[in-house]
Amino acid sequence: MATASKDDQDFSILPELPADVFTAPLQKPAHVGNDWVEPQQAQYTSEDDAIWNDLFARQMDVLPGRAASAFMAGLQKLNLNRGGVPEFGKLSEDLGALTGWSVIPVPMLIPDHVFFWHLANRRFPAGNFIRTRETFDYIQEPDVFHDVFGHVPMLTDPVFADYMQEYGRAGWKAMRYNHIKALGSLYWYTVEFGLIEEKPDDIRAYGAGILSGPTEAIFSVEAESPNRIMLNVDRVMRTDYVISDLQPTYFVIESFEDLYRQTVERDFDRLYRSLGPSFTYANSAVIDVDNVLHRGSQEYWLRGGRGSGAKPV
Ligand SMILES: [Fe+2]
Repeated sequence: MATASKDDQDFSILPELPADVFTAPLQKPAHVGNDWVEPQQAQYTSEDDAIWNDLFARQMDVLPGRAASAFMAGLQKLNLNRGGVPEFGKLSEDLGALTGWSVIPVPMLIPDHVFFWHLANRRFPAGNFIRTRETFDYIQEPDVFHDVFGHVPMLTDPVFADYMQEYGRAGWKAMRYNHIKALGSLYWYTVEFGLIEEKPDDIRAYGAGILSGPTEAIFSVEAESPNRIMLNVDRVMRTDYVISDLQPTYFVIESFEDLYRQTVERDFDRLYRSLGPSFTYANSAVIDVDNVLHRGSQEYWLRGGRGSGAKPV
């Protein structure tokens, strides 16, 4: 993303959005300021805490051996198993001591430029609400379980923590080039649905979208259907993605250092100038340049995917 040395944007205060930059319009609730931060974290009921505990227990049945070692270590370092929805103040204290990050409560969706600005300042915006028993298995909007259980443990890894900050800085550059969707693909295939090859033939998940649900935690690393392809940033930023089903393709990194090197040390100005106005590759495509670890059968989607009752095989 090559932002640290070449981009002189000052992120100490929320920068003005240039007039020619378009971001999706969102109605700001009256009780939050321009930073969209809630005055305080929600008060959770005992049922909310019980839902957190049940979600936590369900993930711990499937994550050992499938989640990245850095993620499992992060859960331990932050004592996220102490019971109930974590208190953001305490969480930020612990995380701050490790990597200088904090967790801030926001309404469920905030504008892209505000989200990027928080990341650039090592603040992770987390949804305030928690899902209900009725939406226990699947929710469209990220809740506090997805945001805190899924994302925050990885922020204890120093290299990944730096990557996330640089991603926020890169967001402002992407907005200026009108390529926020391409940068969004990078987030999608790394921060949300990334895999890492920890040892030969030992592929683990580090993406929060995978780690916060039981089905994809197994599917992403073990199923026959999806492609598993080594990450190539140019390729990923030209690849479309779906948000409402299991992924047809996962991209795999060698290490977090490798991810950092491929992105942060890259000249994104040049990359943006070379990008077309829309995506080139469908999310199930395998192309000539791909270093393919597993060529998926795509059987799950050929049978209709989510809603068809297809088994995630
Ligand atoms: Fe997420």
